[in-house]
Amino acid sequence: MFLALTAFAAALLWSPHAGRAAALHLILAVGAMPLIFGAMSHFIPVLTRTRSAPGALATVPVLALAGGALVVAALGFPGMLWGQQAGALLAVTAASALFVWSRRRRAGMLGRPHPGLDWYEAALACLVAALLAILASTVWPQQAPALRRLHLHLNTLGFVGLTAMGTLAVLLPTVAGRPDPQTSPRLRRDLPWAVAGTLLVAVGAAWFGPLAWIGGALWAAPPARLGTRWLRLYRAEIVALHGAAPLLAAALAGLVVSAMLGAANAIPAAATLHSVQPAWAFVAGFILPLVSGAASQLLPVWLRPGMQGGWHARLRGNLGRYGGARAILFAIAGGAAGTGQEWGLLLGAVTLILFLLQAGVALAQALIIQPRSPS
Ligand code: HEM
Repeated sequence: MFLALTAFAAALLWSPHAGRAAALHLILAVGAMPLIFGAMSHFIPVLTRTRSAPGALATVPVLALAGGALVVAALGFPGMLWGQQAGALLAVTAASALFVWSRRRRAGMLGRPHPGLDWYEAALACLVAALLAILASTVWPQQAPALRRLHLHLNTLGFVGLTAMGTLAVLLPTVAGRPDPQTSPRLRRDLPWAVAGTLLVAVGAAWFGPLAWIGGALWAAPPARLGTRWLRLYRAEIVALHGAAPLLAAALAGLVVSAMLGAANAIPAAATLHSVQPAWAFVAGFILPLVSGAASQLLPVWLRPGMQGGWHARLRGNLGRYGGARAILFAIAGGAAGTGQEWGLLLGAVTLILFLLQAGVALAQALIIQPRSPS
């Protein structure tokens, strides 16, 4: 997780100098993809009520990381074009392995899995399709621009978006300590909308614009419903100075706003007038609050699984301190970066670095100063 967060900060600082696609892939393919795979390997056993992941599964995020690094190198150094295909192949292998493992867990469990599992499997399927689009552009070069658009929407709205929505729906009630009985039925009802929306946006943006508008409306319905529900149930936790809840809520808002900027970008006048940058809004306004909010909640459980006690609560409190202020800074950073202001990325990077320092101190305190007080 620290590797991913460091890759984010490095890429944001490097972005004005590097090519846009290379910097974006440092964040999304080197940072986010292995992190999501690691998180899925942790959550899939929980969602299927089966034993935790075998050690060998740790090779999946590593394979993805190697694939991501190859892509960044290939996009950064024009002579390394083969790296795009090699990176895509490595990442397809990793995603398919995780998908197959998830299906096996589903088949081997008693009863019905938590609906969050369907969101993860749909997200992995989107990633595989997105990577196949990159491989297809080698044999179908005249379609490369359309396949690039297919790849980018399947990855942002599909792979990352579906994973985030499936996770956030469960994570925020956990952070607040008050489960929402409607979470499972809502996840079941919303998945077809989100998947249909993603596919229509991706195919529409690639080949037939009007489809993308219908897809955008379908895709936006689930996060809008989730956000409305959160404001009814968890307003006090969301509008707070401390904690992970403000960050998770800011992430959901950032996901929707960056998708809307993506839609605005499709209108030629908007794109030229305001130099709209949906990808940077996605990174600064969505990925950064999401990962730092999730880290504040999950690091204590990942470091010491099992019974949760005072040690976990103290560490969680220290990681979440000023989470509300960070959420506002990330929202400003996302808004600025998304409308083409370079300082937005810098603000995102500085806010992230401050969190990394705060987390470093909190972890040092928890692991070195009070190492033996598990409860
Ligand atoms: C690891 C395998 C991957 C490969 C081989 C790959 C390859 C590519 C290529 C060749 C492009 C076109 C670059 C250009 O226009 O110059 C591209 C664009 C893009 N990819 Fe990937 N990618 C990978 C993973 C990802 C992941 C995991 C994400 C997101 C989660 C992602 C998001 C994007 C986005 C947003 C763009 C558009 C970039 C822009 O607007 O400049 N890619 N990718």
